Amino acid sequence: MNTQGFELRGATCVVTGGASGIGAALIAEVVRRGAAAVAVVDIDGQRAADAATKLGSAGVDAAGFACDVSDVASVGHMAQAVCERFGTPTFVAANAGVFPPAGPAWELDPADVAWTLAVNVTGVWLTTSAFAKLMVASDRPSWILGTGSEHALGVPHTGSAIYTASKHAVVGLLDVMRNELPSHVGVSVMCPGLVATNLWKGAADRPDQFGGPTRISRRAGVIMTHGMDPALVAERAIDGVQAGQFLVATHRHVQQYADERYAEVERAFAALGADDGSEQAYDVASVAAVVNAEDPRRTAG
Ligand SMILES: NC(=O)c1ccc[n+]([C@@H]2O[C@H](COP(=O)([O-])OP(=O)(O)OC[C@H]3O[C@@H](n4cnc5c(N)ncnc54)[C@H](O)[C@@H]3O)[C@@H](O)[C@H]2O)c1
Repeated sequence: MNTQGFELRGATCVVTGGASGIGAALIAEVVRRGAAAVAVVDIDGQRAADAATKLGSAGVDAAGFACDVSDVASVGHMAQAVCERFGTPTFVAANAGVFPPAGPAWELDPADVAWTLAVNVTGVWLTTSAFAKLMVASDRPSWILGTGSEHALGVPHTGSAIYTASKHAVVGLLDVMRNELPSHVGVSVMCPGLVATNLWKGAADRPDQFGGPTRISRRAGVIMTHGMDPALVAERAIDGVQAGQFLVATHRHVQQYADERYAEVERAFAALGADDGSEQAYDVASVAAVVNAEDPRRTAG
């Protein structure tokens, strides 16, 4: 686990969902902090290429890559193309995500559920895994940043149960990954609240394999215009990366929800009564250590 933080100056960066919103703002922020090269990755290859051309005109070494992060072959091709163009990246933001049409959990469209989990969860796993392998092998200080959400910290946003579940999964996935990676590869996950982006419009571009375009909510669009400027979110996210934080908060007000969630956790344990230490025997880390020590295949290396 790395808690030292990461210096963006000279970094080779990959940002998924880089053609819009928080991804585009992350790119602007890493460039501002001296990144050496940027791969703009998006399912919309044209917008990714246009964004890269614009960066190129401003003197940034950039290229656009069309990639559907939910597709294993597409991520494999993208990772290979990025490495051929720039070498192994040292900073990867697994940021692409979608927000499905809202509704009570029991009435959600199965195609929306599949789409949301494929992009927001499998997509983050495919992206981070593809580059983590290369980062581990490279021995250079590197960093992975995921985009979670305030919903993973306890904000009970009714109507978005699967989106909320997907963002808990992003935090869970990266929490484990940071403990598995060697110390030269760090991990952060930002958990933004409302941000003024095009996220609400994404349903109009739901790919054919998930049923094609579906309804967008104008109400969600109006709500989202009240969100934080993506540039401030990106600035706070990169501050968190540079400081070596795992969890990166971007919206101060979210703390009240996180506190409520934590108070609920405390009440759950308080309900068990005083701890006399006897149940430490069930601690999975200690049990696994004992079982592994007794397993000749593990002790043999
Ligand atoms: N906007 C908010 O209020 C908010 C709050 C918390 C977290 N987030 C998260 O921030 C991230 C970025 O979203 P945003 O708000 O900037 O929205 P956005 O719609 O402006 O940007 C998302 C980008 O991801 C791309 N994309 C969608 N599906 C993809 C796929 N399968 N493969 C590759 N690219 C794909 C889109 O083309 C788009 O350019 C998402 O993970 C989202 O869940 C957003």
